[in-house]
Amino acid sequence: MQGQSYLRKMQPMLLGVLAGLLVACTQSGTVGERPQAIVPFTPDISINEIMVAQIDHAAYAIWDAGSPDANPTAEAWQEVEQHAIQLISSRAALTMGGTGVNDAMWIAQRSWREYVLDMNEASVMALTSARNQDKQMLTRAGDLLVESCLACHQQFKPEIPTEGYLRGR
Ligand code: HEC
Repeated sequence: MQGQSYLRKMQPMLLGVLAGLLVACTQSGTVGERPQAIVPFTPDISINEIMVAQIDHAAYAIWDAGSPDANPTAEAWQEVEQHAIQLISSRAALTMGGTGVNDAMWIAQRSWREYVLDMNEASVMALTSARNQDKQMLTRAGDLLVESCLACHQQFKPEIPTEGYLRGR
């Protein structure tokens, strides 16, 4: 019993020491003895490839499940959830660019980032709809998603993909 009350008394002090350490680490930019280097990171693939292999695949799964005659099972909802997560994760790649010849030029533009945000919002809505198994919301998310694809393509997509990488379906 005595040990317990001792611990209780020590708790605020321990927390104070921990908080102090945290502040010290953050201020000096180091954790322990290791300096935190900021490493520039660019994916080893192009935006063209991300579009075809990740975004297009994931988006079609969401549209299929949200179509009027679809009645997603529990398993299908889980697929929607996973595809929505894939779309959400593509945001990082679309913000950093990759190996495509135009990638760096595209990602630097304000309107590009706005379209990426629009796509992300629609994808987050698709994710929420999957987690609530809300078909109406999924259909709405699908509509917003297609709008974001078309808007960005209208401004940025060349006639022929820069890497010549086309979707298979
Ligand atoms: C932020 C802008 C942007 C958004 C949003 C966007 N795309 Fe793209 N997409 C592009 C650009 C730019 C290219 C051309 C890339 C290249 O050729 O290097 C492209 C290419 C593609 C391609 C391959 C080219 C082709 O003609 O087949 C597909 C497929 C594609 N996008 C699908 C989609 C789908 C589906 C969505 C929405 C879910 C979407 N994209 C959203 C910018 C965007």
